[in-house]
Order: sequence, then structure tokens, then C-alpha cells
Amino acid sequence: MTAATDRAEKAAAAFAAPKGVPEYLPPDSAEFEHVRNTLIAAADRAGYGHIELPIFEDTGLYARGVGESTDVVSKEMYTFADRGDRSVTLRPEGTAGVVRAVIEHGLDRGGLPVKLRYAGPFFRYERPQAGRYRQLQQVGVEAIGVDDPALDAEVIAVADEGFTALGLTGYRLEITSLGDAECRPAYRALLQEFLAGLPLDEDTRRRAQINPLRVLDDKRPEVRAMMADAPLLIDHLSAASAEHHAAVKQHLDDLGVAYVENPRMVRGLDYYTKTTFEFVHDGLGAQSGIGGGGRYDGLMSVLGGQPLSGVGFGIGVDRTLLAARVEGLPIGDTARAEVFGVPLGAAARRRLVVIAAQLRRAGVRVDLAYGGRGLKGAMKSADRSGARYALVLGDRDLEAGTVGVKDLASGAQHAVALAGAVDELVGLLRGPAAADR
Ligand code: HAM
Repeated sequence: MTAATDRAEKAAAAFAAPKGVPEYLPPDSAEFEHVRNTLIAAADRAGYGHIELPIFEDTGLYARGVGESTDVVSKEMYTFADRGDRSVTLRPEGTAGVVRAVIEHGLDRGGLPVKLRYAGPFFRYERPQAGRYRQLQQVGVEAIGVDDPALDAEVIAVADEGFTALGLTGYRLEITSLGDAECRPAYRALLQEFLAGLPLDEDTRRRAQINPLRVLDDKRPEVRAMMADAPLLIDHLSAASAEHHAAVKQHLDDLGVAYVENPRMVRGLDYYTKTTFEFVHDGLGAQSGIGGGGRYDGLMSVLGGQPLSGVGFGIGVDRTLLAARVEGLPIGDTARAEVFGVPLGAAARRRLVVIAAQLRRAGVRVDLAYGGRGLKGAMKSADRSGARYALVLGDRDLEAGTVGVKDLASGAQHAVALAGAVDELVGLLRGPAAADR
């Protein structure tokens, strides 16, 4: 063993990716990218502009924006002091950052709504398990500045379009309304009164005091049984919220987007008002939420902006990929190359390096066998690359001015003139018309 491989092995034993952080390596990374890009494309088709957000922000932004009593803020944030002694936090979600950017850059002084989409990693110190990670990937949209039920329906439909474009079918959309500043305080009092009459344990009672709505979502059978007769916000909405909710559902009906009402839905972030929704996939076990979102009428003003409303979603890319796998969907092209060059000898290598460059310029993905491997090893690499064709060039071919084109699926091989090899392969891969262009 050389000193270099010895060192490399020691390093490999010493380091591993942080706990709960998924990595996507080839060929799976192609599937991940396909899922993310398909979700982004659905947002693009509805006119959402790209915003690239900071990965970390002032800790106060999340404390104020997401809510100090939420698990996300109180237990799950990656918060640290930077070298200038500022408290910063790795973003646990995207909405607060988008709203901060809209206010800071005055985007809300232009045409409304401001429609933005983002994609990337978010960080939550959760207990890792299948589908629950400490670095999670989302694609999200936010539409800020207009309180129109048609916009809620658009946001929901964009998410639904993204899932549909991937071919997903085994999910359902759950929606409800969390009311507004008029009806929520009265409902909260009503629920608290109901909870006070129940024999709850100390822990739950404390949780109920901070946020009584959370108890509605308690999964323990004994608590569920006690909560069966609890008053529900959906039955106590203000006239404005009820009207908004009915209009959102009407738009979803018009769009043919199926939904079920879940009046016990509780979201993990505090900023929601009126429309709230979740996309749930049944094939994922406990971590079944593949996306969620809603309207947040107070967030702009809480973060120091104009009193404008907003609505948006965050879709979990990791979980959507898991769902696509559970459904056995063909997801993305995982082949690294379409053509793989197999040079047998130094002269052949010089020629294939040039042909590879020409093919790449013509838009074909090409890889080559490097490092003087024999025919067998090189053909194995060709198969692994996922290529459809191998270009096999030996010294005798060079003398004859030809190159072997091997169809890697059927194994059939034919010789073509070296001078015409690029056109031949472009024609095989893209159709004869493309080769003439
Ligand atoms: P959220 O429901 O906290 O909403 O997250 C959105 C999605 O991110 C979830 O439905 C789930 O698919 C995925 N996700 C969340 N946590 C994890 C995790 N630990 N591991 C894997 N996936 C995860 C938000 O973040 C809001 N900002 C959405 C929004 C935008 N609301 C309005 N606008």
C-alpha cells in the first residue's frame, strides 16, 4: 500500500457526512435533480421569478417570523455566533427570508403580487429517520401582496402540477383554514376552555397553554379520544375567512384539483392565517408530508414591512424523490454519457479525444476510457456510464480510416468512416435531420 492510499484510507475512516444529512451521488443524483427541476419548472410556468436566498440569516428573523414557541425555532435551529459575535442561524425554512428580502429591497413597491420561487437546502436539528433529515431540500414559492383566493388556488395548483409532471399519483391534498385576527383569538379561548375540562397530563397542559391548537394534532389514542368533541376553528371562522375559504375551494374545483378538508391540521410554523394545506403521500410511513404551505397575512408587518398578505408552499425534494421511488416511477435520465470512447493504443486515443470534443460541441454527452485500460475494462466502463453507443478505435481501424460503433444494448457493431463518425452518431442519437443541421 502506498503512503497516499494509506492516508486516504485513514481519512475515509475518520470522516463521515454529518448525521441525518443525505447525499446524492451519481447515478441517484440525476434523479434528485430531475425531481427538483420538474418542481421548479411548474413554478416557472406560472411566472414565479428566481430568488437566491442567503443560507444563513440573523437569528431574530426566524424567532420573530416563524415563532418562538414552534419546535422549529425553540429546538431545531442551527444557531451560532459568527466571528463578529452576531447570532446567525442556518435557514430552517424559506418564507421568512423571502419576506425579509422583499421588504429590504422594496420589491413590494412594484407590481403586486411579487411572485418568487427558490430551491436549496434548509437545516433543522431533528431526530433523523427515513425521510426526516437535518439538511433537507425544498423547492418553494411565495406570492406576496395580494389577498385573493385565486392566488391561494394558483399556489396549490403549481405544487399539484409539479407532482403530476413527475407522474406521482399516490398523494392527497389536505386543506383547511386557520382563520384570521378576528376569529382566532375567540376560538383559541374556546379551545382553551374545552382543554381545561380534560384530564390532560402536565406536559400536554403546558403545551396547550403555549399553543392549544397543537393538541388537536396529538397522535396518542387517549388524547385523540378526548379531543373527538373539541371545537374546530373551521366551524368558528369570521365571515371574511369563511368566504375566502369557500372561494379557494371553488377555484380548486374549477381547476380539477382534488382535496380533502382536514380541520385538525396543525402546521409547525406560526405565521399561517386562512388557507393552510399539506400534500400527504401514503407510501412514506411517518414522514408523509411531501409539501405544505398556506397564507400568512401578518408576516410582512411582523417583519417590519407594509401590512401585506402572502401565500406560498415548500415542497420537500428529498421526500418527493422517495415518493417517486415508492411508486416505481421512471425518474430522470441517470446515464452520464450517451457515447463512450474506447481507444486501444496511443494514436487511437489522440484521435478519439478530438472526436469526443467534436461530439460534445454538437451537444452529445461523451466520456472516454482513460489510463490505458484494456478492451475488457474499457467496455465495462462504457456499460457503467449508461452510454448507448461505444466508439471502439484500434490501430488497425485507424489505418483503414474507420471506427467501430457498438450498440451497447444489442451488442451489434458496425464500422463507419472516421471522417463521418460525428455525423453518424448525432444521426443515431437525434435522428437523421439533426445530423444535417
Ligand atoms: P414545512 O411544512 O415546514 O413548510 O416544510 C415543507 C416541506 O419540507 C415538508 O412538507 C417536507 O416535505 C419538507 N421537510 C420539512 N422538514 C423536513 C425534514 N426534516 N426532512 C425532510 N424533509 C422535510 C415550510 O418550510 C414553509 N416555509 C412552507 C411555506 C412556504 N409556507 C408558506 N410558504
